[in-house]
This record gives sequence, structure tokens and C-alpha cells, in this order.
Amino acid sequence: MKAIVVREFGGPEVLKPEQIPDPTPGKGQVLVRLYAAGVNPVDTYVLSGRYAFKPDLPYIPGMDGAGVIESVGQGVVDLNPGDRVWLSQTVAGRLQGMYAEKAVCEARHVHPLPDDLSFAQGAAVNVAYVTAYRALFDRAGLKAGETVLIHGATGGVGLAAVQLAVAHGAIVLGTGGTESGRSLVLNQKAAYVFDHHESGYEKRILDVTDGKGVDVVIEMLANVNLDRDLGLVGRFGRVVVVGSRGRIEIDPRQSMAKESVITGLNYWSGGDEGVMRAIAGVTAGLKDGYLKPVVGSEFPLTEASQAHQKVMQSGALGKVVLVIQT
Ligand SMILES: NC(=O)c1ccc[n+]([C@@H]2O[C@H](COP(=O)([O-])OP(=O)(O)OC[C@H]3O[C@@H](n4cnc5c(N)ncnc54)[C@H](OP(=O)(O)O)[C@@H]3O)[C@@H](O)[C@H]2O)c1
Repeated sequence: MKAIVVREFGGPEVLKPEQIPDPTPGKGQVLVRLYAAGVNPVDTYVLSGRYAFKPDLPYIPGMDGAGVIESVGQGVVDLNPGDRVWLSQTVAGRLQGMYAEKAVCEARHVHPLPDDLSFAQGAAVNVAYVTAYRALFDRAGLKAGETVLIHGATGGVGLAAVQLAVAHGAIVLGTGGTESGRSLVLNQKAAYVFDHHESGYEKRILDVTDGKGVDVVIEMLANVNLDRDLGLVGRFGRVVVVGSRGRIEIDPRQSMAKESVITGLNYWSGGDEGVMRAIAGVTAGLKDGYLKPVVGSEFPLTEASQAHQKVMQSGALGKVVLVIQT
């Protein structure tokens, strides 16, 4: 099969296609023919070799994928060849194995892809929706009727968070850096949208909450916004740090009278149970049709390096996806 095989850490230029032997499923495992793989910012961090998680070389990148089951190993009863599926992990381990024509997964990491969703949409589910779900519900404890600011709503996690929060009955405010991105967020039924590059946009956010501030902020760029977020949340507000790319100085005094909270979020930190619970919630939304992943751009597998450049550029419009076969 064809796969992107990383033999040295570095920039996008080290992502090179190779022909390697097909994997075979063992007991309790499933072989999936992948049609699409999702590209996440974390793929670029891992590739650099400077991330907290460093795979052994060589490795195949990618933790999001979708395709069709080709064969099942001994003891797999609920899954069958021909099933359309999206994947949450391969047997290669965390953060690996999806930039390839085939992948082997444990059966519990294989989830049904509804017929009305494309494989590209299926490859846009795992990281974006599990992260958004855990941020909104496990960390922020978002309740129906509360206001939530998705600070960075135009990307993979942001749009997933908008859809999940709207479906939950929250009042959703989103931000985006481009006109087209902000239109996309409004199309996903956010109540208000703001430009995170416009000076003074925080005052407009406070205005639409009648000065009270939002109940929850889901933050995609904490190193830029965390101090501002402490001014944007109201009494007992919760700020969830999903993304951060550096350091920032904050004024902790802003949290005292409001008794507001800053908490981090990591896809994996809820353990297997946390991830599987989020997957159950996301699976229900995909099946019932209120969650519809948004794909912003597609690249062939052989252009994985261009996809890595794209995912780190501003002007997000949903997920960046590698098309592996059509
Ligand atoms: N903690 C975890 O487990 C976890 C999981 C997944 C992702 N992440 C991290 O979360 C972040 C978002 O991930 P993603 O997959 O959604 O990435 P993405 O698709 O590349 O989206 C990036 C988002 O950040 C927004 N942004 C840019 N400048 C901003 C600013 N000044 N203020 C607020 N938002 C701004 C972008 O908006 P415009 O492009 O419209 O300006 C876009 O909405 C990344 O840093 C990623 O590494 C963390």
C-alpha cells in the first residue's frame, strides 16, 4: 500500500510517500481501506520532533481517518467487510497511522459513518469533535441556556464546538479572522460572530451579553487571548484552554470577584473512558444529523506536505483533509 512514511523529524518536506506492505488484522482487530485522513495542527507538532509525544521512527502520521472495512480479525462480531466507518485510533498508537491507504484498528476504535456523510467528513470527526465535546461538557460543564464564546470558531475544533453547543441549547458566540470564516460560523447557527483581529471586539461581545459576560470561553489561542478571556467571562465563568502556542501574562485579579476558572483540556486526559464517552455523544449527533463535519480544503495523499502548510495558516474554513482514494 501507499503511505506517508516519516523517516526523520522536520518540516512538511519530510512527508514522503512510500510503497510498504499491507498490514493484517489480528484478533479483535479490523483492517480498514482508508479513503480520507484528517490533518490536525498536532500532526505538525509531532512531525517537528519537539512535541511532548515523540513516536519511534519511522512512523506514519495522522490520527483521523475514514473508509471502508476490508476484513475483520478473529472474534470481531459487530463489524463487517463493506461497513463505512470513521476511526479514532490505529494499532500503531496515539497520533499515528492514518496517512495511508490501509490501517489496522482495534474494533472499539472503529465507528459507523452515516451514509449521508462523505469520507472526507468522516476524516474530520475524531480530533475535532472529541476535543470540542470534552471541552464543552467535561471541562466547562456547559448547560442549556448558557452563553459560550468559541474563540476561534472557524477551524476544525471551533466548528465542531459551535455545532455541539447549538445542539445542546446554548447561546453561541463565535470568532473568525476572515469574512468567509465568520459567514460559515453564522451558517452553523451561532447567534453572534466577531472578528478576533478587530480592535475592541471584546467590548462588542460584552454588549451582546448586556455587560454580564459569557458563561464559558472555549479558547483556541490562549497565548494571545487568555487575559482578555478573563474579562469576557461573567460570574462563575469557565475558560477552557484548548490551544496555546506560547506564553502570556495574565491579571489573576480579574478572576477573584467573579470566581471564574481557567482549566486546560487535552483530548487524551480524560482517559479511555473520557474519549469513549465523547465518541458516544458524537456518534449520536452524526446519526441524528445535527453534527455535520465541515471540510475546508482537500489535498491528495501525496501532497501531505502542502496540507501541513495549510493547516498552520490563518483563514480556516473547517478541516484540512487528505483524499486517499475516491
Ligand atoms: N488540547 C487538545 O487536545 C487539542 C485538540 C485539538 C486541537 N488543539 C489545538 O487547538 C487549536 C485549534 O485546533 P484546530 O484543529 O481547530 O485548528 P485549525 O483548524 O487550524 O483552526 C485554528 C483556529 O484558530 C483561530 N485563530 C487564529 N487566530 C486567532 C485569534 N487571535 N484568536 C482566536 N482564534 C484564533 C483560527 O481562526 P482564523 O483562521 O479564522 O483566524 C481558527 O479558527 C490548535 O492550536 C490545536 O493545536 C488542541
